[in-house]
Amino acid sequence: MKTDRLDAPRVALGVSGGIAAYKACELLRRFTESGHQVTVVPTAAALHFVGEATWAALSGRPAAVETWENVHEVPHVRIGQQADLVVVAPATADLLAKAAHGLADDLLTNTLLTARCPVVFAPAMHTEMWEHPATQENVATLRRRGAVVLEPAVGRLTGVDTGKGRLPDPGAIFEACRRVLARGVREPDLTGKHVVISAGGTREPLDPVRYLGNHSSGKQGYALAATAAARGARVTLLSANATLPDPAGVDVVHVSTALELREAALKACADADAVVMAAAVADFRPAEYATGKIKKKDGVDPAPVALVRNPDILAELSAHRARPGQLVVGFAAETDEVLANGRAKLARKGCDLLVVNEVGGGKAFGQDVNAAVLLGADGTETEIPEGPKETLAETVWDAVVARLG
Ligand code: PMT
Repeated sequence: MKTDRLDAPRVALGVSGGIAAYKACELLRRFTESGHQVTVVPTAAALHFVGEATWAALSGRPAAVETWENVHEVPHVRIGQQADLVVVAPATADLLAKAAHGLADDLLTNTLLTARCPVVFAPAMHTEMWEHPATQENVATLRRRGAVVLEPAVGRLTGVDTGKGRLPDPGAIFEACRRVLARGVREPDLTGKHVVISAGGTREPLDPVRYLGNHSSGKQGYALAATAAARGARVTLLSANATLPDPAGVDVVHVSTALELREAALKACADADAVVMAAAVADFRPAEYATGKIKKKDGVDPAPVALVRNPDILAELSAHRARPGQLVVGFAAETDEVLANGRAKLARKGCDLLVVNEVGGGKAFGQDVNAAVLLGADGTETEIPEGPKETLAETVWDAVVARLG
């Protein structure tokens, strides 16, 4: 039996009755191994999938199963009141419906009604159930009230079928919860907003083997996506050749070239409240694509590679806002005259905010930390000192929230 540290964050882990309940064991492990005190609150249906003994063994405390057990401790009120975070994973369509309508017919739904801490739902169900207007309205209701409802992942479902509805990876759910916990009781201030983020670096193919590319790892863009999801946003992440794991609760669209990124950006931005272009987009692409591998010939110099300009996606999004009030944020990767070039770029691109970061010499690209100056079209300049890319992302979202009102 382990003794909990008094200052250990208290997590109530709700588990509802879906096949993905077994993945909550991995989530539970991550919480306990990182020093959280976890009370597991499985529904009766969840216990068909994973038994009480497993939850008790993994959490080091009895699972909270029965409303009518230990009534003198008033568990139906106490667990929610005392929690620093309630997370429900998996959250079935039925559980979301009950939560949205305030039903309280078991210990988990009672816990949800009494919780005054942040609440995260990680839904998992078949695509049809997720897409049903009833579920979508319930999700919208929960988000409007301040809960963070992660978007389900796309992939293999219970049987041979695939689609949207898979429980996000437990590691990614854990990361999302960690961010929500770090924000504390502050309202998820991007609730109800759709944000589009580009990340990674485009690749412009020369032949089936070679491409023009850059050193972007996608870390900065993924940090923007993960932090926006933790602040309650619906997030579409346009990922150009990044190999990072999908952040939990984020719709990820994979692209490769600048032209593909442009098409995906125009589509995703149609109903977006804000778009952040963190991707490193190639300004040029080879004028011709060789369908076979370009061969070297003895004694013959290689032909120069002719390039053509790629469309400037950021400038286009800024000039043709898909909806009134849509906020457009760009990044500027500069190697010299960083701030002067950044200011000129802000004017040229026509965006509302520009994150100017110095690159080259081991800076920014591929690193876990970044430093920048955030320029506003309104003349504001905010220095963001070197720190984790997530911290920079939070500062960007603070500025976005302030401007979205
Ligand atoms: O991915 P990481 O390894 O974490 O590295 C992060 C980063 C260095 C890539 C990131 O912080 C960054 O600076 N991203 C922008 C890189 C870039 O393309 O900068 P730029 O100065 O060339 O372009 C300015 C802006 O215009 C960018 O928002 C870019 O997305 C956009 N652009 C550029 C060219 C083009 N054809 N279309 C565009 O939309």
